[in-house]
Order: sequence, then C-alpha cells, then structure tokens
Amino acid sequence: MTPATLYLGLMSGTSADGIDAALVSFAAPQPQLVAARTHPWPAALRAEILALAQGTDPLDLDAYGRLDVALGHGFADAANALLDASGTPRAAVRAIGSHGQTLRHRPGGALPFTLQAGDPNVIAERCGIDVVADFRRADVAAGGQGAPLLPAVHAMLLASPGHPRVVLNLGGIANITVLGADGTVTGFDTGPANGLLDVWCERSCGLPFDRDGTFAASGTVDTGLLAAWLADPYFALPPPKSTGREHFHLRWLLAQPRVAHLGAADVQATLLELTARSVANAIVQYAAGAEDVLVCGGGVHNPPLLQRLRGLLAPRGLASTATCGVDPDYLEAMAFAWLARQRLAALPGNLPAVTGARGSRVLGAVYSAPPPAAA
Ligand SMILES: Nc1ncnc2c1ncn2[C@@H]1O[C@H](COP(=O)(O)OP(=O)(O)O)[C@@H](O)[C@H]1O
Ligand SMILES: [Mg+2]
Repeated sequence: MTPATLYLGLMSGTSADGIDAALVSFAAPQPQLVAARTHPWPAALRAEILALAQGTDPLDLDAYGRLDVALGHGFADAANALLDASGTPRAAVRAIGSHGQTLRHRPGGALPFTLQAGDPNVIAERCGIDVVADFRRADVAAGGQGAPLLPAVHAMLLASPGHPRVVLNLGGIANITVLGADGTVTGFDTGPANGLLDVWCERSCGLPFDRDGTFAASGTVDTGLLAAWLADPYFALPPPKSTGREHFHLRWLLAQPRVAHLGAADVQATLLELTARSVANAIVQYAAGAEDVLVCGGGVHNPPLLQRLRGLLAPRGLASTATCGVDPDYLEAMAFAWLARQRLAALPGNLPAVTGARGSRVLGAVYSAPPPAAA
C-alpha cells in the first residue's frame, strides 16, 4: 500500500469570516493544493465568536463546552463539504490538521496561554479521519508566542534564494514573514488588519466587511486619529510578538474620543491607513533589504489597501502570492495540512527564531478516527 499523501487543513482566523478548508498533496517535493473551499459559519455562531474574542463578555463553563462542540461541528461540516465536493474518499486522506477558532491569545505574563476551540474529537468522529489539533500550545509552553506558525510554509513555498523577500498575510491580524537572502526566516504579527476594518464596517454599515475597500476609499484619513492609534505600544514592541482581537477590538477603536467626531467613512479610511502604515513601518524596520512583498489573506482583495501599501513600500514590488502560483486565500489552511503531516512524522512545526520558543517543538496532538464500522 502506498503511503497516503493527502492531508486536509482547516483554518478559521481572527476575522471569523468562514472556515477555509484545503486538501493538500505532499506527493511532490512542494505541497500542492488539490481542492479548496470556504465554508461559512452560521451567523449566530459567528456573532458568538466575535463577541467572545473581544474579551468583554464573561463566559460560563457550560456555554464554553457547548461552543467548543458547536465549533467542532462547523469544522467537520467544512471538511466533509470539501471531501464530498472534490469526490475524495475518506481513506485517501491521512489526517486533518485543524487550527480551531482562537477565542483568546495571551502569550505574555506569568501564565501565558492561547486558546483555540472546536473539539477535534467531533471532527474525527464525523469525518472518519485522524485529526491533529492544538498546534500552538507546545510553543507557548516552551516560552514562545505560539504564533505566527505560517513562516515555515511561506519559506517552503515562496523563498527565492538570493532574493530577500517578505510574505505579508492580511488576515484579521497582519503578520509578516521575512525571508532573508541567506535562507534565514523571521516574522511576527504587525498589528490589526481586517479585524478592525470589519468591525467598523459592520457597526456603521451593517455589512460584515468593506467589499473592495470602497467604503474606506470614500472617506478621508484623519491624521490626528491615525497618530493616536499608531501610538499604541504594541507597534513599538520588538519581535517576537503576536496579538489578536483581545487587544485590537471595537473598544480599542472607540477609546479614541476623536472617533465620535468623525464621519464613519473617515474612520474607515483611517483604519485602512493604520493597517497600511503599521505593516509598512514593520517591513521598513525589520526587512529593509526586501526586494518584494508577496501578499496573501483576505486583504489581498482590498484594492485601496494594496495601493496604499504599494505606495508606502516603493520601490519594492508588491503582488499577490498568486503571481508565484500560490492561492492567497488558502495558504493558511495549507499550512495546517503541513503541520498535521509534521506531527505524524514527529517533526517540529515551529520556528524558534519566529516565535521566541526555547527550541524546536513537535506541535499538536492526535485524535484518532473511529474504527471502520463492522461490515
Ligand atoms: N473583496 C474583498 N474586499 C475587501 N476585503 C475583503 C474582500 N474579501 C475578503 N476580504 C477581507 O478578508 C477577510 C478575511 O480574511 P482572512 O485571510 O480569511 O482572515 P482570517 O485569517 O483572520 O480569517 C474578511 O473578513 C474581509 O475583511
Ligand atoms: Mg478567514
């Protein structure tokens, strides 16, 4: 029997816009995306995730237990929908790598932790495939940030020997991977991206996101508000560092009194500028020699954001990872397929130079599929 080379990655990021599912083949030296789709969260579940992730609502243990299982069903639905749509037999998939939904990420302090929900037992039971999950906590236990985990896969798919480059993931939070000409890989979360753009758009327009950035483009940047936001200490922190919705949330945005005196479109324009400036500042400070910037994540579909980044980062080139044959919408889900494979091979998944962990660690825990039903 030939070893199974297909893995399925599941990812729902801080935007909680949907579950990305990617079927990845490792038959060739480079991982290949075989099939992919995004499965929506039911609206009520998405609202619960977003409310919780802000850290304002207390959550009792019963509610947490139910949410963990409901999210597990969401991930199982996403995996099954992809397998059915692509006509992939369950037996052909060696394992599912499920990131889970981050509900809290606090990698600092005396008792650092990161919490991803979406019961992997439910996924294994409903898909009939082994599941690997809980990828971040081994790194946190080793003194690391537990994030970002993407840089190893960015390096594998997008490094160009001799050419220093940056891979920029514009998700709910933005993170960069700095690929040195000499093969070194570093990276960190630069700060907010779609997460804040989404909450303000939702609050002022009732829409889940600012499609094509048109709302932001209709406003004017307020330099006073921008300066106040850019003064947040996170931006000046040296890496390793990572952040999430528990820091950059609606209350963070509303904490500046100036917001109340501006038109909603001007606030959106200023948020877009904040995203572009904080990303560009990080690249200029920590990847000054980069020749080009390759962009992935949902922000790649926001033309005014890309245009602003291009302006700030010139003369460096800036383009979607699609120009290198890598689908920008499924790179992160592909990474969790790879991480599942690393786990089953007992190989490390983290890069200590990125996360700050004491050393390389095998990431994740295995949840076995139920035995095949008796004939
Ligand atoms: N056409 C578009 N125009 C503007 N923004 C978009 C568009 N498509 C997706 N996005 C943004 O991308 C986000 C999803 O990005 P994603 O990379 O999935 O983030 P995460 O990893 O946090 O889930 C959406 O919430 C939205 O803000
Ligand atoms: Mg997403």
